[in-house]
Amino acid sequence: MNTPDDPQQAPAIELAQLRRDYLVRAPVAGSRRRRRQVVRAVDELTLRIDRGEAVGFVGANGAGKSTTIKMMTGVLRPSAGSVRVLGRDPVPERRHLARQIGVVFGQRTQLWWDLPLRDSFRILGAMHRLTDRRREERLERLVDGLDLGGFLDRPVRQLSLGQRMRGEVAAALLHSPALVVLDEPTIGLDLVSKEGLRRFLREDRAERGTTLFLTTHDMGDVERLCERIVVVDAGTVAYDGALASFRERLGAPRELVVDLAEPAAALRLPDAARTTAVEAGGIRHRISFAGAELTVPALLTAIGAQAEVRDLELAEPRIEDLVRQISARRGPARR
Ligand SMILES: Nc1ncnc2c1ncn2[C@@H]1O[C@H](COP(=O)(O)OP(=O)(O)OP(=O)(O)O)[C@@H](O)[C@H]1O
Ligand SMILES: [Mg+2]
Repeated sequence: MNTPDDPQQAPAIELAQLRRDYLVRAPVAGSRRRRRQVVRAVDELTLRIDRGEAVGFVGANGAGKSTTIKMMTGVLRPSAGSVRVLGRDPVPERRHLARQIGVVFGQRTQLWWDLPLRDSFRILGAMHRLTDRRREERLERLVDGLDLGGFLDRPVRQLSLGQRMRGEVAAALLHSPALVVLDEPTIGLDLVSKEGLRRFLREDRAERGTTLFLTTHDMGDVERLCERIVVVDAGTVAYDGALASFRERLGAPRELVVDLAEPAAALRLPDAARTTAVEAGGIRHRISFAGAELTVPALLTAIGAQAEVRDLELAEPRIEDLVRQISARRGPARR
């Protein structure tokens, strides 16, 4: 049935005036007493995400991202407002939703610490009622895409952080969920591991058309994985739009560092780029550029016409800086 209430037709995520308060006991200055205090972690947050979208949910520490994800996945009950995920109410329908959502909390494991990774997948397969064949087929894809082969038979507690995180992602994706929710999936990973994980998440999404919702402090994750960015500040949505217009609106500069084969005094570059020779000899040049029109390939073409490039590195703007700009425009913090 195609009624608006049909969960099959509902948006992936629908949050309306969502609120969550925590009751905490705060120390009182000059006294050993503690007084009860309400912390409003999420405040009138409204957001709609359609099926198939890839959204980066970013904000400063304590902005309310994890709390929002916990309400979306049925771990926490909202204090007010409503949450619908794939057309369902996450707290009462948590079990049903678990079959369609894959969640990774980067700071916490959902694997069995003392068991080999392979056994965790077996248990999860049984929990999701996958047939042995379906589990093994999916696992083959995950082992291949996430490069798990070398440590499938090692207990989780012996894995490095990067290995464990790849295992966590595989565990979350084993049942081929329609919605993938990742809370800081690349935290603590080195650049190579981050890139590998991002590549697989992109491929898996392209193959299966999943909805991706992720929080991160790494702008690279958002750049590689998301088309839309939502900035949360003091528990509420401060910015929501396409990634390209986000960057353009803030005019956030990116930085390209090139090492030339031969020293060069100065490089002539398109107007939108500023260049500084970092090293006295002029081997290393740092080029800062902003705006959507000037792309890295265009810059490299301009440089390549003047000098031979031996090595290069691209630095993304820091997400914290962008978020700070957004927050500053909204006026003084409310807490
Ligand atoms: N269990 C809890 N009890 C009391 N306060 C909490 C609890 N969990 C979170 N908070 C508070 O709620 C606010 C939002 O926290 P939350 O973890 O959602 O932020 P976040 O955006 O995920 O931050 P980070 O980027 O550091 O992960 C913070 O002020 C935090 O101190
Ligand atoms: Mg968090």
